[in-house]
Amino acid sequence: MKILVANWKMELGVRESVALARGVLRGLRGLKEVPHVYVAPSHPALTDVAKVLGRSRVVMAAQDVSGEPQGAYTGFVSAKQIKEVGAGAVIIGHSERRIFAGETDADVARKFVQASEHHLDPIVCVGEPSTVHEASETLGYVHDQLDAILALSDISKRQRLMIAYEPIWAIGSGVTPTIHEVRAVHRAIRERFVEAGMERVSVLYGGSVNPGNIYEFVNDDDVDGVLVGGASTRLSSLMELIHVVSEIDR
Ligand code: PGA
Repeated sequence: MKILVANWKMELGVRESVALARGVLRGLRGLKEVPHVYVAPSHPALTDVAKVLGRSRVVMAAQDVSGEPQGAYTGFVSAKQIKEVGAGAVIIGHSERRIFAGETDADVARKFVQASEHHLDPIVCVGEPSTVHEASETLGYVHDQLDAILALSDISKRQRLMIAYEPIWAIGSGVTPTIHEVRAVHRAIRERFVEAGMERVSVLYGGSVNPGNIYEFVNDDDVDGVLVGGASTRLSSLMELIHVVSEIDR
């Protein structure tokens, strides 16, 4: 079963997030194969979206989590708090957080530990800037990002884990890598985890996925799913994306 993660970023208010979640549930009713859908609203909308999703098959993800368990961290939100309001997963190390909030690989690793300890499925984002891509150094760059996670001694081999390969230059730009480039990076990511004894890794692609190009990505055996930003914030295009994934799953 392929995976679709809808990352709503800071695009939607609470009411809009609730309406979109309701729309998704309505849209899923007629589907024969319901793919693994995760929706990631902003923190203020988590509680209300969780109420809408209830016990449906759609899983709610938070867009970030603190690397600290608890304490005097003004404005941070802990894994325990996220779990408490009904999230089942969390996006970690999105490039927008690495760039705008200065998150390092070490921060990402700490967040990963918190997510795991609270049984939130981690969706870890990796991906290179355009300079690295142009220099054909993507694999080394992504390896270094993964090593921060793989170095964690307490990482459970049985844990469900998603890695989203999101080239920074492809995010929100309308430009995407070729399927050959995506395939090469996905294979390298998977090999890295298999070497470490972790078989349960799903590798997603993210960056300018839309209803027009999703098929090419999701139809590939090396792509376990997609992480979508912009095109997931409107019900019509989100449902188009879900339909394509569902058709492939049939
Ligand atoms: P995009 O965002 O689909 O708008 O390019 C993807 C992401 O940042 O997760």
